[in-house]
Amino acid sequence: MGPGAALAARWKRNREWTRRFFHEILTPQAWLERPIDLRHPFVFYEGHLAAFAVNTFLRRALGKPGIDPGMETLFERGIDPLDASGVRSSSWPERDRIGAYIRAADEGVAAILESRMPAKAVKALLVILEHEEMHQETLLYMLHRLAYALKREPLGVPPPDAGGRPPSRAAVRIPAGRATLGAGAGEVAFGWDNEFPKRTMDVATFEMDVYPVTNASWLDFVDAGGYRDADLWTEDGFRWVTRERVERPAFWTWHGDRWFWRAQFHEIPLPPAWPVFVSHAEASAYARWRGRRLPSEAEYHRAAFGRPASREAAFPWGDEGAGTASGNFGLGHWDPLPVGRFPAGASAWGIEDLVGNGWEWTSTPFAGFPGFRPMPLYPGYSADFFDGRHFVLKGASPATATPLVRRSFRNWFQPHYPFVYAKFRTVDA
Ligand code: AVJ
Ligand code: FE
Repeated sequence: MGPGAALAARWKRNREWTRRFFHEILTPQAWLERPIDLRHPFVFYEGHLAAFAVNTFLRRALGKPGIDPGMETLFERGIDPLDASGVRSSSWPERDRIGAYIRAADEGVAAILESRMPAKAVKALLVILEHEEMHQETLLYMLHRLAYALKREPLGVPPPDAGGRPPSRAAVRIPAGRATLGAGAGEVAFGWDNEFPKRTMDVATFEMDVYPVTNASWLDFVDAGGYRDADLWTEDGFRWVTRERVERPAFWTWHGDRWFWRAQFHEIPLPPAWPVFVSHAEASAYARWRGRRLPSEAEYHRAAFGRPASREAAFPWGDEGAGTASGNFGLGHWDPLPVGRFPAGASAWGIEDLVGNGWEWTSTPFAGFPGFRPMPLYPGYSADFFDGRHFVLKGASPATATPLVRRSFRNWFQPHYPFVYAKFRTVDA
């Protein structure tokens, strides 16, 4: 299979996944639901994926005409649900009309995939492929917030694997050394603008947790009154906790006399060995409670990819591609797995679960590397979020597609966003 055929197959796989999500997993009653305030309702995303492909691939890269200018404007942006006048869209086109638009968009893309593509089109194709793969994760964490009656569990997926007791807490010291962030121009088949240019940083010695913080450890924080102790939080963080009455992770629920975890399709007794999924503000408060802190982006790189006596590796486990023995990513599971389940995925220092089982929060505000240039195909992709109000996450979650699992990939969210599949670990202060 040539590179063109492999990309065409990846596009077909993505479109099929999206079709199943909207038409088999999501019920028709959920179509207009908007489970997360900062996000659009589900209806938007099905249109958005098609319109993004038309705008970016057919129009911008190939200079072809669009299909429906109204749709291409309505479904252009997925980040901020307020339109220019600050009003939320309240009326959406009929589902049949959106469906017809999507079919036309898919036909337009498919026709190009059958032809010989110029290099510029290949780059734009990678943009729409990775865009759809990232939105698969967005859709899954939005789906996570829905009532169980509004979604259908597909057959043949493994049920939640709660595991037993977590391994005891442990930490290892990493010697001072260099960390390479981002990638050089020819080094990756594709990267977003925020991954370039490559940046080398010196990292002082530090000590890092071997495992991500688990639900069991988080329970200690809750029981110690962590959510009520203003000294553990930044001023901004404690304002959020107070205003939103946050007193537990967004994935936890309390019934009668004990904690449960709301997994994607089942509510289960709190699995003590799963990594805790929390916001950046919560993770920072916990680290402070332990007298520790979150790692910086450079420290994460040193821990994940650094090696004692040789150059850095592509993955924590070495230079081989992202196999299923290496971590919980690639949409093989709906939910996390107990920490420490992938010893083969450990880094050179013996640190586990760095890639997979939940993104990892860092203390680094999201910004461009020195020499950053916005990508012409999507200039606002990263730069719109260089505002000091977003933090870098590294690694991958169970819902992260395998093509996105690469050393240079950078994710980012606001510090008070508790809905994403994000875990953390601490380092010595
Ligand atoms: C990189 C995951 C933060 O979902 O907000 C999708 C990806 N950007 N469409 C997001 C994205 C535009 C972005 N994240
Ligand atoms: Fe998008």
